[in-house]
Amino acid sequence: MRLVNTVSELRDAVRVWRSAGQSVALVPTMGNLHAGHLALVNEAQKKADRVVVSIFVNPTQFGIGEDFETYPRTEAEDRQKLNACGADLLFQPAVSAVYTSDAKTVVSVSGLSEEYCGALRPGHFDGVATVVCKLFNIVQPDVALFGLKDFQQLTVIRTMVRDLNIPVEIAGVETVREASGLAMSSRNGYLSAEEKTTAAKLYQALCVARDAILAGSASFQEIECKAMLFLQESGFQPDYFGVCKASDLKKAGEDDVALVLLAAARLSKTRLIDNVCFSRNPQSCSDAFLSKAD
Ligand code: PAJ
Repeated sequence: MRLVNTVSELRDAVRVWRSAGQSVALVPTMGNLHAGHLALVNEAQKKADRVVVSIFVNPTQFGIGEDFETYPRTEAEDRQKLNACGADLLFQPAVSAVYTSDAKTVVSVSGLSEEYCGALRPGHFDGVATVVCKLFNIVQPDVALFGLKDFQQLTVIRTMVRDLNIPVEIAGVETVREASGLAMSSRNGYLSAEEKTTAAKLYQALCVARDAILAGSASFQEIECKAMLFLQESGFQPDYFGVCKASDLKKAGEDDVALVLLAAARLSKTRLIDNVCFSRNPQSCSDAFLSKAD
């Protein structure tokens, strides 16, 4: 696997592949790679001839007092993992190679970016949309892969690509979980052993709520309240638990079919997010969530 740190080297490498008629996939990450990230690389290999992985801890998506400085940086291990799974190129730029000090342009997907995680992390999704838009312009991939684990992020990116006519296919990849059900995340490393056991209850709450919706046993509002209470009683400080439409993350009505349950909760200083998406129509195929959530 080739390692490049500058935009011009990256563009040169992609140009060579393009002139040989090869297609290119991009997997954007912030590093500290785990099986969830590697599942994206795996999917990318099925979708394109060449796979570029970016590792860039993007300062503009971290708020004041968040963990930008302490975010786990494990460069040597990450390179080994990417080599082992056969990625073609690792793009690992310095902050100065991505942002000029007098940058004046921000990409903002309004509305969607201010809800749920956006309400608790003001500016976060502007930082995500801006860096992902820049990565798309730098790499110009045919396809880019993102995890369903960050469902709101995926929805923000799909909306940006649609609104700005960016010529890239966005593919969603299923969440990879520990045996306990806990969604893999770079931030799980902040959890103590005891917290990790509690953390698995976030997915449990989502599954219980999904099953209650499928059984039609309670209103969406009751289900949200019960889930918040369960999380509190389990030792979390829950931020939100919402029954949403999978297409635009607006509050779901009782007639909506494609749903996503979005949840975020804190365990001491660690904030965990997770979701489950499902259809209330047994006929409809879950692949809809992977390619296009509407
Ligand atoms: P990061 O948290 O490193 O995640 C990179 C990609 O891996 C995202 O698309 C995320 O949804 C996916 N991912 C993380 N955990 C996963 C899991 N357990 N199963 C499947 N996919 C998983 O998300 C970011 O970085 C950044 O915001 C980024 C998009 C790179 C922009 O800076």
